[in-house]
Amino acid sequence: MSRLQLHGVSVDFTVKKGGRDARLVHALSNIAIDLELGDTLALVGESGSGKSTLGRVIVQLLRPSRGRVVWDGVDLATLNEQQLKPYRQKIQMVFQDAYSAVNPRMTIKDIIAEPIRLQGLSKGLRHAATVTLLERVGLDVKMSARYPQEFSGGQLQRVVLARALATKPELLVLDEPTSSLDVSIQARILNLLQALQKQSGLGLIFISHDLAAASYIARRTAVLYLGHVVEIGPTETLITRPAHPYSAALLAALPSLVRQNDAVAKNSEPLLPVMTPPKDGCVFQNRCPSATPRCQLVSPALTARSFDHHVACHYPLDS
Ligand SMILES: Nc1ncnc2c1ncn2[C@@H]1O[C@H](COP(=O)(O)OP(=O)(O)OP(=O)(O)O)[C@@H](O)[C@H]1O
Ligand SMILES: [Mg+2]
Repeated sequence: MSRLQLHGVSVDFTVKKGGRDARLVHALSNIAIDLELGDTLALVGESGSGKSTLGRVIVQLLRPSRGRVVWDGVDLATLNEQQLKPYRQKIQMVFQDAYSAVNPRMTIKDIIAEPIRLQGLSKGLRHAATVTLLERVGLDVKMSARYPQEFSGGQLQRVVLARALATKPELLVLDEPTSSLDVSIQARILNLLQALQKQSGLGLIFISHDLAAASYIARRTAVLYLGHVVEIGPTETLITRPAHPYSAALLAALPSLVRQNDAVAKNSEPLLPVMTPPKDGCVFQNRCPSATPRCQLVSPALTARSFDHHVACHYPLDS
């Protein structure tokens, strides 16, 4: 089975401010992730925590400043565009805004067939493949001659999904695929993703600021805070017994139905706006209700709490 591993991945952006001053933004710091394909992982965290940057590094839309992105033993970050081609088919990304992801002058069937057109299939085979893809995402084949403007947001997100599935990917990275949709449509797209994942054993990386949506789709969850993974483990564990105070704060912001454990919510602080990371020590120290001088000095390493559950905190909550 294929495997995706991230080792020490960091991404820095240089942001130029007006004149000569260039500021370095550490969007990701030393990320380590291991995903067996066929498994599902959610990346959650507030705006600016680095979720999209991490997604873009995984699909190689962005090269890491440091570290390795390894797919079946091959470091993708060292490959040139030509060498990357086969991997680009295996790893697909779906973005939040379906309307900006498609060409408004192309029909739905041409949009879906676009990735397979390049594979040199005959017109008949392409048509058959497009019909199959439309059916898989629950769209009526009769709609395939229409244009994107005639579709609702939810329908168009299905089209984008069908196009992403056209190259038979092994891994789909979905960046907030439902957050621009109405709640009832969101649920339907989540159900569809779940069904597709089960049918084909597709690996999914589901990016969301919504822990509830993540818990519905993903077996494992990584919580990001200012470019650091602060906790990673089975979603069930994170929802019922979060070990990092930041995970607990995210959980406290959810409706109690999803939260299941109200004691956690009562003991955590409400979320404040994201701050710039402190120079030394723990990345979460300025917002943490249980920070001590140690947290200002020493950055906690991501440490195993059990098999498959790691947390970066000197004083984890469930200890
Ligand atoms: N191209 C870029 N140039 C400069 N800084 C960037 C760039 N892309 C992202 N950043 C910065 O990197 C950090 C992480 O951004 P990212 O978009 O990955 O966050 P996110 O978790 O996806 O947020 P959101 O929930 O708002 O989508 C932010 O501080 C952002 O401003
Ligand atoms: Mg984002």
